[in-house]
Amino acid sequence: MKTHPLRSVLFVCLGNICRSPLAEGVFKFVLEEQGKAHGVVIDSAGTNGYHTGEAPDERSIAVAGRYGIDISGQRCRQLKAEDFVHFDLILGMDRANVAAIEARRPPNATAETGLFSAVALGENNQIPDPYYGTGADFERVYLMVLKASKGLSNRF
Ligand code: 4NP
Repeated sequence: MKTHPLRSVLFVCLGNICRSPLAEGVFKFVLEEQGKAHGVVIDSAGTNGYHTGEAPDERSIAVAGRYGIDISGQRCRQLKAEDFVHFDLILGMDRANVAAIEARRPPNATAETGLFSAVALGENNQIPDPYYGTGADFERVYLMVLKASKGLSNRF
């Protein structure tokens, strides 16, 4: 684990339309609030490519918007090998995401990888997939992402 301040993070979920776009937008917002966003690269990706090129799910756009964060300009992309050398940190939302990240790790990888809540808070909580859920599930995901983002900001 690097002890100096990190400069880049990639948030990863399955589809890159529900959870990781929220994490990208919320973490950017948290770092901006703390005056630490300058020069930090924050991005998100999915382990599958089903929604490549699409905007985030409208329910994620809506919950972020209720808290004053606009994620509507983001576009879905799939996790790629170069990400493992371009980013300091690659974080999965749940354990299946982390397993999929590890399965794609190339031999030259330098990125630290792990579960978002574990790396950010030392908690072994997963951020659950809300895709087949309700608005309340998206709200819960937002609050979990906000809490973890505040924890993660201590390393930036
Ligand atoms: P996400 O949610 O991983 O939080 O973006 C999902 C979105 C779409 C699908 C799965 C999960 N999908 O299979 O289409």
